[in-house]
Amino acid sequence: MENTEPLTEEQPFAELSPSPLSGEAGKEDVLIAANLKKTFRLSAKQRKIEKTPLREKIAVNGISFKAKRGEIYGLLGPNGAGKTTTLRMLATLIRPDEGDARINGYSIVKQPDKVRSQIGFLTSELKLDDFFTPNYIFDFFSELQNIPTQVRDERKRTLFGRFGIDKFAETKIADLSTGMKQKTSIAVSLVHDPEFIIFDEPTNGLDVLTAKAVTDFLVELRNRGKSILLSTHIFSLVEKICDRVGVIIDGKMTVEDTVANLTKEKGLEDVFFDIYAETKGGRE
Ligand SMILES: Nc1ncnc2c1ncn2[C@@H]1O[C@H](COP(=O)(O)OP(=O)(O)O)[C@@H](O)[C@H]1O
Ligand SMILES: [Mg+2]
Repeated sequence: MENTEPLTEEQPFAELSPSPLSGEAGKEDVLIAANLKKTFRLSAKQRKIEKTPLREKIAVNGISFKAKRGEIYGLLGPNGAGKTTTLRMLATLIRPDEGDARINGYSIVKQPDKVRSQIGFLTSELKLDDFFTPNYIFDFFSELQNIPTQVRDERKRTLFGRFGIDKFAETKIADLSTGMKQKTSIAVSLVHDPEFIIFDEPTNGLDVLTAKAVTDFLVELRNRGKSILLSTHIFSLVEKICDRVGVIIDGKMTVEDTVANLTKEKGLEDVFFDIYAETKGGRE
């Protein structure tokens, strides 16, 4: 049976403390990821697409990092770096081969149900069923999460109002604009008002207005005390809204710091290319 209490300190987390980040004693870790690893077996078809003879791909190769409560943490990296795989492990959608992480003290390996109650996993790629309305889908997911009707209606009012979905609450998904569909899928992922929000590439594929609505909303959630972990390959997004950043290259965490510290001397893009050259040095 799954343990329902947050776990206390133990391996493999012990090696991660005390915090490697200096001067931040007062801030609490909401997420501690320790040595996460994930390797995928490649099918013949995938080997052909990826143009590789290798039968396995190491997507995430021992990633450790910490995120603080009430902050926006950005996992920054080029395509194929392992960002989505890391987020899917943290959201308990796939199991790490090695390592573990704790969110609010709960282990993603040993207490996945508890973790799921704490998090919202958002992606701009989530597809909603065309046949239903935003109102129906919101109620459906609220029911799955056992949200009392009154709380559900209050949340729905707030979220639908915030994203302008209220005018389309009874319109079938099929008849909504792409932006409105995406906003609906975001609202639906937040039915249980999660403490910790994991958002894979929040602005990918969004028109500029929707992208702005989404990033403004993330900042608003952070200002209300929520903790957010997002992935992106867009430097300006990190500079604009993230408090802290971890740079992932080839399945490994290369540099981790506050955005303010990392960008003291130059912009994030230049910092990234320095790290990239150092990491890849001579290999490509
Ligand atoms: N289900 C899978 N099967 C095989 N390879 C995968 C799978 N998921 C991801 N990969 C590979 O793992 C690497 C990391 O992918 P991903 O985590 O999606 O990176 P990112 O989100 O940073 O672009 C890529 O080379 C990708 O092709
Ligand atoms: Mg990705």
